[in-house]
Amino acid sequence: MATPLLVDTDPGIDDALALLAAWNSPEVVVEVVTTVAGNVTVEQATTNVCRLLALRKPDPAPVVAIGAPDPLARQLVTATRYHGADGLGDLDDWPAVGRGELAAAVPLILDRARRQQRLLTIVALGPMTNLALALKADPAAMKFVGRVVAMGGAVDVPGNVTPAAEFNMYVDPEAAHRVLAAGLSLDLVPLDATRQAVLPRAGLKKALSRAAGPLAARITAFSDRAFRIDHAGGAQGMVLHDPLAVALAIDPTLAQWEAVRLEIGPEGETRRARGDPNCRVAKAIDTARFLRMFLDRLCPPPRRRASS
Ligand code: BDR
Ligand code: CA
Repeated sequence: MATPLLVDTDPGIDDALALLAAWNSPEVVVEVVTTVAGNVTVEQATTNVCRLLALRKPDPAPVVAIGAPDPLARQLVTATRYHGADGLGDLDDWPAVGRGELAAAVPLILDRARRQQRLLTIVALGPMTNLALALKADPAAMKFVGRVVAMGGAVDVPGNVTPAAEFNMYVDPEAAHRVLAAGLSLDLVPLDATRQAVLPRAGLKKALSRAAGPLAARITAFSDRAFRIDHAGGAQGMVLHDPLAVALAIDPTLAQWEAVRLEIGPEGETRRARGDPNCRVAKAIDTARFLRMFLDRLCPPPRRRASS
């Protein structure tokens, strides 16, 4: 049976790639997508989820719910320099999308936690504000969640916002603290692991050429900005932070894990601490196997019309 996923996200170029790969992964079914403020405002993140749904039309379509507009205790800091003002590379030709009436993220997270219990995996690809609010509202319900896989942190490597802090943790450290303190089954996917998940541009080009069509063209267009910025920063391709978290939700054997106790510093630093572990952290990853899996799933070839 496919594992039900609830993806909490702030698209974001790498979030978009993560969603597209998840929507084409038979081991899981993305039943819910909740949005959160992070890379962009929560309004823009929600528009971006709707854009991706209209582009890919996953079957079954997930329920979309809108989440927190602000971190728990501080002002939102976005990452539009990297992702573009609209979060998806600032292309000027996205078709307009309607949103209709959207559910609210926190009650939906709690509802799914109560109903699906251990079956549910939550994949958190942005700041952990929605999860922290759900924990505050009903900690007992959140204990039912089978597994939480969260992209965030920089444990034994430098951060990407400050020398020691990674973006998702930096944006909402109070939320991260609450999630780490909650006793959840938490698998953290920090920069230590994601910096090994580098996709060369030629690899993407080759994979998309096997699936040429409007989806492939759109992926090429919106990911161009991330390639340019990552290359300028010295990487050999795009760093696939959020796609790695989705891949590890599907197949934890792609990484070696270490059980650790982490505490969150005032700027979102993820520091090792004494005491019982409060999460597992992804360390070494099987990069070749991850990239193969990701590229196989990102962009299915367009369906051929039946010949008459
Ligand atoms: C994380 O920050 C965001 O910009 C990315 O989407 C990813 O979730 C990496 O630090
Ligand atoms: Ca993200």
